[in-house]
Amino acid sequence: MENVIIIKHPLIQHKISILRDQRTGTNEFRSLIEEIAMLMGYEALRDLPLEDVPVETPIEKCMTPMIAGKKLAVVPILRAGLGMVNGILALVPSAKVGHIGLYRDEETHEPHEYYCKLPTPIELRTIVATDPMLATGGSAVAAVDFIKKHGGKNIKFMCIIAAPEGVERLMKAHPDIQLYIGHLDRCLNENAYICPGLGDAGDRIFGTR
Ligand code: PRP
Ligand code: URA
Repeated sequence: MENVIIIKHPLIQHKISILRDQRTGTNEFRSLIEEIAMLMGYEALRDLPLEDVPVETPIEKCMTPMIAGKKLAVVPILRAGLGMVNGILALVPSAKVGHIGLYRDEETHEPHEYYCKLPTPIELRTIVATDPMLATGGSAVAAVDFIKKHGGKNIKFMCIIAAPEGVERLMKAHPDIQLYIGHLDRCLNENAYICPGLGDAGDRIFGTR
């Protein structure tokens, strides 16, 4: 599928395997989510536009490339997407951060919105939406709907683990976005959890439940 990029870097694969291990505790889990987001961000941001700006080195004046225009907006989907923010900010410290609050109804698995605040002017920014898990795709579709409703155009969605069902649903609803995936897993189970997955990402990042 065009616009779906599975990042197969060995460092990312190795770190995802440690994430999956049920013995990995909150502290390590949180650090790994951040590191993986940074490694994925390095790949996902390789098309950021550059412009030549004047700089004076100790030797002479020159024109040299820097990131052009309005910078990035990182938009985590609460809660679990928050865990990926610092990884992206390590690459682009001047990025602005928006938030979209969604939770999955435990019975219907459909997303419910409880918060949305995005940096302006959102239409001029490259937007990196983050959520470690793309399961049914309901939350991702709703999040991208919100971003577009607020004027967002250039949207990259970054997830660490995806199920094929979610990839299909998201790209059917929003074929114009770029989807970056750390690992494409096998399927969903009857509770709409990703198999083999890593369990509940939000609970493992924040140490809840
Ligand atoms: C998880 C995850 C995604 C969503 C994925 O969040 O972080 O946002 O489920 O599932 P979907 O693709 O089927 O919509 P959850 O609703 O558990 O909320 P939390 O981040 O607050 O724990
Ligand atoms: N949300 C999670 O945190 N994990 C899953 O496997 C599915 C949805």
